Amino acid sequence: MKIMSIVGARPQFVKEAIVQHELNKVEGINEILVHTGQHYDENMSGSFFETLSMRKPDYNLGLSGGSHGKMTGEMLIALEELMLKESPELVILYGDTNSTLAGALTAAKLKIGVAHIEAGLRQHPKDMPEEINRVLTDRISKYLFVPSEWGMKNLEAEGIREGVHFTGDVMYDIFLKMRPTFDKSYHSELGLEPGKYIVMTMHRDFNVDDRETLTEILNGVGRIAREIPIVFTIHPRTKARIEEFKLSSMLKDILVVPPIDYLKLMGLTQHAYAAITDSGGYQKETYFSGKKALVLMPDTSWIELVDEGINVLVSGADIYDAFSGLKTGDFKENIYGSGDAAKRIVSIISQNI
Ligand code: UD1
Repeated sequence: MKIMSIVGARPQFVKEAIVQHELNKVEGINEILVHTGQHYDENMSGSFFETLSMRKPDYNLGLSGGSHGKMTGEMLIALEELMLKESPELVILYGDTNSTLAGALTAAKLKIGVAHIEAGLRQHPKDMPEEINRVLTDRISKYLFVPSEWGMKNLEAEGIREGVHFTGDVMYDIFLKMRPTFDKSYHSELGLEPGKYIVMTMHRDFNVDDRETLTEILNGVGRIAREIPIVFTIHPRTKARIEEFKLSSMLKDILVVPPIDYLKLMGLTQHAYAAITDSGGYQKETYFSGKKALVLMPDTSWIELVDEGINVLVSGADIYDAFSGLKTGDFKENIYGSGDAAKRIVSIISQNI
């Protein structure tokens, strides 16, 4: 069976790493790996393939940047050509990025089955690009691999029942697999004391593209940084907006570092006090690491963590108060399965060869 896996953005490399590992174990499956090129900086892309011991992509389309329509449109054209050339029987897609939607749409139009890993998640605001991408991808998928019980309920409520499988979260699998190799020395390189710093990531359009919102967030975070060091691994999009809005001086109390690879970020997190993030993946990885997160989102697709009191949804206006009210405590375990999601996914796919 020929399978085409499509990745493009940072979180997808992490998910593909573990699924690829399981696919490799099955005789008769031939996986072709396509990188759309959406993320291209070494520290946003290449470093992941090395640190997660992944096979290099068979194709890199080199398509990145520009408006959503342009990026998605160019991907459609290039992916169609490639699918016609390679004739895969199944296309595997991850999460909610423009690369996901482009892959799903191309495959569905060519009547090639789509397997969506991380299906069923829903989130406000409904007009955020990731929400549009995941809702549409779920609609045209043949296999919907769902990471959480809440995701199962969402699909049920939308009347999507065929091909739906609860598997748990592949990000938990890779976390467990890679944990012995986490690079736990980065905090000391940065001069930080264990348990006494916050790790921050932020890149969502609704947080960084509006000057006023971004200013309010940087204000709140700046107040926190005067009480506990914050190390901010800055995404290229966020860096560009801060420069464009001339807000660089608001970062003066924050330790800003470039994006870091998976093993470094996970290592840094193991010794952190807590995290501030708007990343879908990282707000779970902090939970896997036993850390709380202040989540800069009006809503989240990982709502269980909020319901359990592990994560707190915040805005720039209330982040400081939320930080002051943070309490540590025991976390409910295994909310996202038992670490065998990729195995389950590959077993379902291979039973249907
Ligand atoms: C994308 C995903 C988001 C995911 C995130 C992880 C969509 C709609 N969004 O958001 O769901 O959480 O990736 O990081 O697909 N850039 C660089 N170098 C890079 C990558 C990007 O300079 O290696 C620049 C791009 O040129 C662009 C900006 O950063 O100007 C944003 O990149 P883009 O891929 O459009 O979206 P993200 O914000 O990264």
